[in-house]
Amino acid sequence: MAVTTTDPTTGPATGPTTGPTTDAPAVLDDLLASRWSCRAFRPDPVPEATIDEILLAAGRSPSWCNTQPWHAHLVTGAATDRLRAAMADGIARGVYEPDVPFPPSYEGVYRDRRRVSGWQLYEALGVERGDREASGREMLRNFDLFGAPHAVVLTTTASLGTYGALDCGLFVQSFLLAAQARGVATIAQAALAGQAPVLRDLLDLPEDRQVLVGISFGYAEEEHPSASYRTERQGLDELVTRVEV
Ligand SMILES: Cc1cc2nc3c(=O)[nH]c(=O)nc-3n(C[C@H](O)[C@H](O)[C@H](O)COP(=O)(O)O)c2cc1C
Repeated sequence: MAVTTTDPTTGPATGPTTGPTTDAPAVLDDLLASRWSCRAFRPDPVPEATIDEILLAAGRSPSWCNTQPWHAHLVTGAATDRLRAAMADGIARGVYEPDVPFPPSYEGVYRDRRRVSGWQLYEALGVERGDREASGREMLRNFDLFGAPHAVVLTTTASLGTYGALDCGLFVQSFLLAAQARGVATIAQAALAGQAPVLRDLLDLPEDRQVLVGISFGYAEEEHPSASYRTERQGLDELVTRVEV
């Protein structure tokens, strides 16, 4: 199929489109259903042109008043190793200071869902329930970027508050799907935001930028045990309340 700048299925649209292609629902549903959080990457790099396509596609995300509050620091090559080293040092020094507060606790259904997804991961890895040392070791792999050759550190502007962060969430999802469409595996990582002061220093972030999330990406190590399961989702009965008045 010829690539044009207006075809939403083949690349970042940069001009007006006349509407989705006929297979768009199937394509999008498949991307949504097949995307997953990869926790073991091969070291081979993603071509620069592909990374640029993914970033541009993500940049097509909507935002309130088209403010586009996101900014992506793309870390690649030797810089990825410097990022890993800086975060390892941050962890060793006990740095834990997110710019945007992390949830203080998970209660009720949120606690249940969090537990199930954690157990799925640990079961896949052969980590016994309650083995804090092993689960702690696995958590620390976040700061090794799960071996990914690339990462994006995504910042928002403090001045746009929660809605700016919401816009950035849309950017994240677009990034994940644009990557998935190109065979590139991803994982969004709030864990990186706990190292905000370290990232601020390393990336020379201006004062008003808040570190929101990282995205590690590359090609999946498909045979890794962590790649052997997929997470669950609510059904429609839980997901929606139909209002009929
Ligand atoms: C904003 C955000 C932050 C996340 N942070 C982390 C993280 O720090 N570490 C991690 O292993 N997974 C992280 N995840 C991945 C989630 O655990 C994952 O999306 C969820 O369990 C659903 O699984 P799936 O992505 O495989 O469908 C994050 C996801 C999102 C959207």
